[in-house]
Amino acid sequence: MGNLAAVAEALGGHVWAADVSNEITQRQQRDNMTINFDSEDIGSNTSDNRTFEDVLTSFVSRRSVLAGGAAAAAFVFAGASSVKASAVEPTRRTASGVAARKRPPINFTSIPLQNSPMPTIAPEYQYKVILPWRTRLDGKGEFAYGLSSDQQAISAGLGHDGMWYFGDDKKGMLAVNYEYGTTTHALGKALPTSLEDVRVSQHLHGVGIFYIEEGPKGWSMKKDKRNRRIHVNTPVEFSGPAANSDLLKNSAGNEPQGTLNNCANGYTPWGTYLTCEENFNGYFGSTSTAWKATAEETRYGVNASGFGYAWHTFDPRFDRSQPGYQNEINRFGWVVEIDPENPKAKPVKRTALGRFKHEGAEVVVGKGNRIVVYMGDDERFDYIYKFVSARDHKKMIAAGKSPLDEGTLYAARFNDDGTGNWLELSPSNPALSSWTIDKILVHTRLAADLAGATKMDRPEWISTGADGWQYGTLTNNTNRGRTGQPGVNAANPIRQNASGHIIRWKDSDGNLGGTFQWNLFMIAQETFDEGGQMFGSPDGIWGDPDGRIFIQTDGAQPGANNDQMLVRAS
Ligand code: FEO
Ligand code: CA
Repeated sequence: MGNLAAVAEALGGHVWAADVSNEITQRQQRDNMTINFDSEDIGSNTSDNRTFEDVLTSFVSRRSVLAGGAAAAAFVFAGASSVKASAVEPTRRTASGVAARKRPPINFTSIPLQNSPMPTIAPEYQYKVILPWRTRLDGKGEFAYGLSSDQQAISAGLGHDGMWYFGDDKKGMLAVNYEYGTTTHALGKALPTSLEDVRVSQHLHGVGIFYIEEGPKGWSMKKDKRNRRIHVNTPVEFSGPAANSDLLKNSAGNEPQGTLNNCANGYTPWGTYLTCEENFNGYFGSTSTAWKATAEETRYGVNASGFGYAWHTFDPRFDRSQPGYQNEINRFGWVVEIDPENPKAKPVKRTALGRFKHEGAEVVVGKGNRIVVYMGDDERFDYIYKFVSARDHKKMIAAGKSPLDEGTLYAARFNDDGTGNWLELSPSNPALSSWTIDKILVHTRLAADLAGATKMDRPEWISTGADGWQYGTLTNNTNRGRTGQPGVNAANPIRQNASGHIIRWKDSDGNLGGTFQWNLFMIAQETFDEGGQMFGSPDGIWGDPDGRIFIQTDGAQPGANNDQMLVRAS
């Protein structure tokens, strides 16, 4: 089979739990739910920064810079073997990209658009479900449906999303994000009716670390002392400039616990996994009608009801009206580092990377061995960020420091002429001179508003191409052109398009520079116009060492077809 992680992601991502036997039931449950799973699709940015649409409107007229439509692409499911090869070269992403290998472009059969309840893959590929929801860490199969919170805490979670495989062609550790899971999913209950119900839902979330190996019957999970579940009640720690901030302390005195809404991911050259907390706001609510969201909470989309998980009705940590837990909300929205080899190591929330609805964390080794992390904040009109480590990451690690704890955070401004600027988010920026660094890192969205970042159309994944450019998906922005929204222009194809596009940029100075050049790689609407091979709502993206760009969709597809995995081969 092709790339294990890619296949599992496609089967178990936003739409499906990776459990084919139960997929239809789960899909029905999901469709019946009132929870808004596209919950990032609610703009909360009322700053007057220019929208990306404004910039795009100006820039897209220079159509000669576009890479072209999808006609040149082969539309297929599942990665070629080169993706697997890349999985064992975690340090391959350098400032200059990777020299293209001499391989045939794409050698499998494109499949037509599908509209069926089951996944369809190219005939050259096969798939096997290896880690469905309820898979026990101890290798003894799966717990029965209706599992307890204790059982859920020691088995695979739900809402499979980003993942990374730390291993070779035969065996290794697979880290898997579990993005969502309600009592409806787990127990068939619309709402929790006890703390135990809440705990089940909480334990569906987080990350699973599993040893997998290839045997005579293909890949499977095996018992291993490194197998581990991390969920909403797992002890965690904070590190970096805001770690000791009062903004992360509660008068209840509770220790930091948990990670949730684990969306996309990243991995580091030193062998750790990065899990990214996205729509954390949806898990909080208020049991008191007197409670009012602060300006900061409003900017992060926090309200009295959340997404309908209703954890706050039984767990005071998630009740915004509980005075003892006044800053619990600030403990979520981070990039969390996990050592897949050490089950005793606490997950670490890296505050230097800022707090927002983190989609993913694309790690690049920049000039001078400095670590550069590109990150999207997935909400309409929110921003793209990058972090640059203070020094050579190898020297920092040798000195006992994490390269993710010292450095500078920036937000992106895309200029009309195809250039861009990385706006420093620190008190050194005159726009933030009255802010402390911990306030900037905890209330990052508000800091980026003041710095003047460009409002984007829901930044999702970012990946580095073989050409050394960063490719970022902007999945859609359904507010485009609505009354009161800026930038509406019917003559511009982007504005007619609620289906998103893909942008790419190239930083100056080996990824360290404050400037970049950018252009558009693909506009989904253009693929509709060409007919046949259509896609919308690009989300996952992966640049492989041969120059291919893999794209996963997540959301409405033209013709109400299924989500797809695509590859652009040239
Ligand atoms: Fe969890 Fe923006 O996708
Ligand atoms: Ca999405």
